[in-house]
This record gives sequence, C-alpha cells and structure tokens, in this order.
Amino acid sequence: MGKENQRTGKFLFMFAVTITIVLSVIIFQAFSVNTKEMLAKVNNTPVFDFDHNAKQFFETYNETTAAYMNGNSTDRTLEYYYSLRQYPGSPPYIPHDLADKKGYEYQCLSCHERGGFVEAMNRFTPVTPHPQYVSCRQCHMKKVTETLFKENGHVSVQTPKLGRSALPGSPPPIVHSLQMRENCIACHVGPGTVVPIRVEHPMRGNCRQCHVPEETKTLFTRNPM
Ligand code: HEC
Ligand code: HEC
Ligand code: HEC
Ligand code: HEC
Repeated sequence: MGKENQRTGKFLFMFAVTITIVLSVIIFQAFSVNTKEMLAKVNNTPVFDFDHNAKQFFETYNETTAAYMNGNSTDRTLEYYYSLRQYPGSPPYIPHDLADKKGYEYQCLSCHERGGFVEAMNRFTPVTPHPQYVSCRQCHMKKVTETLFKENGHVSVQTPKLGRSALPGSPPPIVHSLQMRENCIACHVGPGTVVPIRVEHPMRGNCRQCHVPEETKTLFTRNPM
C-alpha cells in the first residue's frame, strides 16, 4: 500500500516538474518575439484571386462597341428569354435560320461577338458571353419540331426572383452562379439584352465590387429544425 502511494506521488511530482519547464519555455518565447521582424515576414504582394477570380472576370469584358452599348431597344422580354431555355442557365435554342438566302451557313461569331442590328430579323443581336467556345452547335440547337415525341411531366425549375436588395436602393445580389456568366456586360448591357435586367451603369466598372453572388439561401443555424 505505502509503496503504491509513493509511486503515484513520484509520478505526480515528475508531471508537475515537466509542466513547469514547458510552461516557462512557452512564456519566455511569447515575450521574446520581435514584432518588427515578424511583420517584415508578412507577404504583402497583392492577391487577386481572393474573390472567385474577380480580376479575371473583370478582364473578360468583350469587344462590344460603344455604339452597341449605347443603343436602345425594348424588344427583349424575360418571358421570351426563358421561352428559349429548358431551365434558367441552360443553352438557348437558336431562334433563327442557320443559313442565309443563298444557302451559305452563318458564321455565328460574325454577329454574336460584337452585337449589332440585323435588318433581316429586325432585331438586335444578343452578344455571346463565351466567344472562346467556337463550336457553337455543340451546345446550341435549332428546334426541329414543335410537337413532343411523347407527353411528359417536365417542369422547369423556378426562375430566380429579382430585385432582392437588402435595402431600398442598395445593389441587388447576383441571383445566378458565375460559371459561364463571367462576362456581365454581354447579358446586362446593350440593346440585345433583356430589358428588366439591362443596366445603364456599365461605366461603374467592376460589377462585383458592388454586386455579390447570393451563395447561401438560408441563414446559418447550429440546430436546423
Ligand atoms: C446575321 C447575324 C446572326 C448570325 C450570323 C447568327 N445569329 Fe444568332 N442571333 C441573331 C439575332 C439578331 C438574334 C436575336 C433573335 C431573337 O431575339 O429572336 C440571335 C439569337 C441567337 C440565339 C438566342 C439567344 C438568346 O438568348 O435568346 C442563339 C442561341 C443564337 N442566336 C445562336 C447562333 C448560332 C449558333 C449561330 C451560328 C450558326 C448564329 N446564332 C448566327 C443574329 C445572328
Ligand atoms: C459548352 C457549351 C456552349 C458552347 C460551345 C456555346 N455556348 Fe452559347 N451558351 C451556352 C449556355 C449554357 C448558355 C446559357 C448561359 C446562361 O444563361 O448562363 C449560352 C448562352 C448563349 C447566348 C445567350 C446570351 C444571353 O443573352 O443570355 C448566346 C447569344 C450564345 N450562347 C451564343 C453562342 C455562340 C455564338 C457560340 C459559338 C461561338 C456559343 N454560344 C457556344 C453554352 C454554350
Ligand atoms: C448569360 C447571361 C448573363 C451573364 C453573363 C450575367 N448575367 Fe446577371 N442575370 C442574367 C439573367 C438572365 C438574370 C435574371 C435571373 C436569371 O434568370 O438568372 C440576371 C440577374 C442578375 C442580377 C439580379 C438583378 C435584379 O434585379 O435582382 C444581378 C445583380 C446580376 N445578374 C449581375 C450580374 C453580374 C455582376 C454578372 C457578371 C459577373 C452577370 N450578372 C452576368 C444573365 C446574365
Ligand atoms: C458602384 C456600385 C455598382 C457597380 C460597380 C455596379 N452596380 Fe449594378 N447596381 C448598383 C445599385 C446601387 C443598384 C440598385 C439600383 C440603382 O439604384 O441603380 C444596381 C442595380 C443593378 C441591377 C438591377 C437592375 C436595375 O437597374 O436596377 C443589375 C442587373 C445590375 N445592377 C448589374 C450590374 C452590372 C452588370 C454591373 C457591371 C457592369 C454593375 N451592376 C455595376 C450598384 C452598382
């Protein structure tokens, strides 16, 4: 019995000694830091990709001409915009013929890279947000039939709600993902764009300085019910 107690006592003593030594080393180190030296080591080079590659997005502004940017037209409605898409964000159908009267195939980018008025269609051209994907018809198709092959229950997902500024007059959040929507100007500025989302402030510069993506739909709670 006595021996057992002695052993426990020894162990506790050694433990206390170790703790005292370690603690004093830690405290000594904490007080011997040279703040100036530490600050000098901090990396001060500017970081550009902190905000989902905002810099790259900013630089993908396209070749859209000033004349087009200043043009006006009230033709395009959101309803028509969505009618060409299976769901918001999916590639739209091509709503026009693919060849001219003589049968020559259209070079898609000749119209869609910079935009402009097309007399034959009596419409302004929507600028493509992705001129880098040159095989357009890999994703964009022309509707070939109006009748369904088979009845089905397909219902498109709901379109995002607009105008959800936190305060009256504050910038509304970006209600869509940024994938393939890096070039804000293409869809939001100019006469080829949809009227309700068209803006008169491209000159404000980097859109995402003021508009933030709405990434979380619900507030975080620790115990979701
Ligand atoms: C002569 C100019 C011209 C050429 C060439 C052209 N387009 Fe278009 N495109 C237009 C115009 C104008 C509209 C808008 C028509 C409308 O609103 O109904 C349009 C609309 C579209 C749309 C629908 C966009 C949307 O959001 O509503 C797609 C997709 C499209 N074109 C793809 C193509 C592809 C692919 C090619 C190449 C095969 C092509 N276009 C060639 C002028 C052109
Ligand atoms: C990899 C697939 C893909 C390729 C290739 C592609 N697109 Fe698209 N395109 C899309 C998708 C997806 C959208 C819908 C984007 C969205 O709403 O976020 C779209 C949207 C568009 C729009 C409508 C922009 C608007 O106002 O909403 C036009 C115009 C367009 N594409 C033209 C073209 C042209 C012209 C080419 C060829 C130079 C092309 N696309 C190549 C996938 C593609
Ligand atoms: C392919 C076309 C396209 C591109 C590119 C695009 N947007 Fe949009 N944007 C839309 C459409 C269409 C809507 C309407 C909601 C929807 O269907 O997604 C919208 C909605 C918005 C709204 C909400 C407007 C409101 O009244 O609530 C904001 C803000 C916005 N976009 C900002 C941006 C910014 C910033 C960029 C560039 C990073 C951008 N968008 C790129 C098509 C686009
Ligand atoms: C300096 C801040 C700022 C910048 C930069 C900015 N916006 Fe806005 N934006 C706002 C404010 C504030 C509103 C709310 C409407 C208003 O009062 O102008 C708004 C409204 C919008 C809307 C809703 C439609 C409308 O007119 O109310 C869209 C879409 C939009 N902006 C897109 C863009 C795009 C695309 C860019 C980049 C070309 C951009 N914004 C740059 C501050 C900004």
